[in-house]
Formats: sequence, C-alpha cells, structure tokens
Amino acid sequence: MTNLSAFIGQLPKAELHVHLEGCLEAELLFELAERNDVALPWRSAAALRAAYQFDDLQSFLALYFQGCQVLRREQDFYQLTRDYLARAHADGVVRAECFLGPQSFTEQGVPIQAVIEGTLRAMADAEREDGISAGLLVSAHRHRSEADAFALLDSVLPWADQLAGFGLGGAEVGNPPEKFTRYFAELHRLGQATTAHAGEEGPADYVRQAVELLGVDRIDHGIRALDDPQLTAELAQAKMPFTVCPISNVKLQGVESLAQHPLPRMLAAGLTVTLNSDDPAYFESSLADNYRQCAQAFDLDAAALAGLAAASLRAAFLSDEQREPHLSELAAQLAAVRAAAPAEQQSGRAGA
Ligand code: ADE
Ligand code: ZN
Repeated sequence: MTNLSAFIGQLPKAELHVHLEGCLEAELLFELAERNDVALPWRSAAALRAAYQFDDLQSFLALYFQGCQVLRREQDFYQLTRDYLARAHADGVVRAECFLGPQSFTEQGVPIQAVIEGTLRAMADAEREDGISAGLLVSAHRHRSEADAFALLDSVLPWADQLAGFGLGGAEVGNPPEKFTRYFAELHRLGQATTAHAGEEGPADYVRQAVELLGVDRIDHGIRALDDPQLTAELAQAKMPFTVCPISNVKLQGVESLAQHPLPRMLAAGLTVTLNSDDPAYFESSLADNYRQCAQAFDLDAAALAGLAAASLRAAFLSDEQREPHLSELAAQLAAVRAAAPAEQQSGRAGA
C-alpha cells in the first residue's frame, strides 16, 4: 500500500463534495468560540472529538449546526476556508468545489457579506499562493422552505458571477427535491450550475426527482439510486456524475461498513463516480483517506484510482482549457507508476 498511498497523495484530484462547515477542525472551533465569546457544551477539543459518534444524518447535522455557531466574522470564514484549502493542496487536490450554507449564519445575524467575502478571499489567496483552484457552491437547506431558498438566492446575487454554482443539502428524508422545483428553475434561468444531495438516506425516487424536476448537473451521494435498476441504467447512459462519499456513508451509518459500500456496484453499473470527503473534520478523513481506504477495501489498482480521479476532473465545473493540464499530468503519473512497478504490486491490498 505504501507506493499506492504516495501515488494517491500526488494524483491530481478534484474534490467536488465537501462542506466548508464540515472542515471545521475541533481546535479551530474552540479558538473561534473563545474569540467570539460563544459558550460550548464541550470542555475541550478532545471532548468534542469524542462526541463524533453518529447514528444517522440527523444526529450528525445536530452537532454540525452547533459547530456553525462559532463562525461569526469575515475572518472566521477566511481562516476556515484557507486552512481547508492548504490541507487539500497538500493532499493533491487541484480543484475544490466547496459547499457553504449561509442560512446557518445569517439567521444568527451574521452579515451575508462576511460569509461570502471571507470565503471568496480565502479561495483567491489559495489560488495565488498554492495554485489550487477553488469554487464556492452556495447550498440551501432543504429542511427550510423554498421561500427561504429564494431569499438566500437574492442575498448572494451581488456575487453571482463569482460563484461556481448552487447545491441543496441538510435533512433529506421528508424534504424531497420537488419542494425546490421553482428555485432550481430560477437558478438555471440565471445560468448557474447546480447539484443536489439525493439518495444519501432518501429513496431512489429522490434521485430521479433531482434529475428530472431540478435538472441538476451532478448528484451528491446518490447511493440509493441503485435500488432502481431502470434509473441506474438511465443515469449511466446520461453520464450523470455522482459525488460519492464512502467514509461519510459509513460514519452516518448509511452503510454497515466500507466493505459493504455500493461503490463497486455503482462502477460495475457504469455510473460516473467520483470520491469525496463530505465533512472531513467530523469524519476525521480527508479526500486522500477516502481514496486510500477504498483502495484497500476494494483492491483498487493505480489505474482504477486514476480513473476515479479523472472522473472527478471531468465532472468539475471547469473549462476544458482549465481541465486539460490536470488530465495530462494524471496520465503522466499513471504511466510512470506502470513503468516503475509490475501490475501485481499496484493494487490496494498489495503489501498490506
Ligand atoms: N451537510 C453536511 N453534510 C451533509 C450530508 N452528508 N448530507 C446532507 N447535508 C449535509
Ligand atoms: Zn454532503
């Protein structure tokens, strides 16, 4: 695994499904709580980390939204985003498309300018200083109303041409995509790229709704789509990208273990699959960790891992001109590893 682990770390990858709120490491959470005079129910960062035990999405979101309370000032959003992008850059991420859900902050009286400007400034600095490309996906909470989503859209319109797109996250079951049909129609009218979480805990029909009613460009998670073979075949044919988050699905008990994860079945069905971390601070696993653990669990070789990374670059909201150099570098790295080691040494379980 050591050679393969280094290969994974260097492989040019796009991270297409990561929530900036979910990048809030326990130590930074405590630092911001002190700076902003926010009372916390945990005595220390270690006690907070010990609370990272989740039964399902809902129990996770309760802790995640509590963590959001410490983010109050533009500098906080800057630091959160800049720190994540530094870690991602070190992990071989060349393009990061990051969700942020401003409703958690604006409802507490944080000005929308602080949220967006702090985040975009960190992205610009990371690009200039590290060369990592980053885009902001403004995420609406599906457990709130469609009217709230429209109010969110109005509030971010001044930055519309600086955004990578819009997403839909939060508590899935009971909040089907159809609730946001008019909101997504408006996003498309404005020429924005869109994604929606669907089929994480919700049924395959939510994935169908996200595609047919919302017209999304990517499905976030989507693992439950496999329950509907007809839908699966249609989405394979359409080359719809799925931003799958295997470790997240295990941590939120959507699947029993990584070995039981449907990733191999999704690939075998011909779906366009990308790997992602979702909430790396809370799941204590980066994007490269997702690649490494999947390599181990499913015995993926260098070519399979490079295929997943190439899929992520192709599914990124980038121009072909921006994408091509990364795909060329990826092909060069795969050729180098093939030249250096016989195929039997390149699988995820070799040497383990
Ligand atoms: N927000 C952060 N992580 C999420 C997830 N896994 N599903 C839905 N909304 C989220
Ligand atoms: Zn997510």
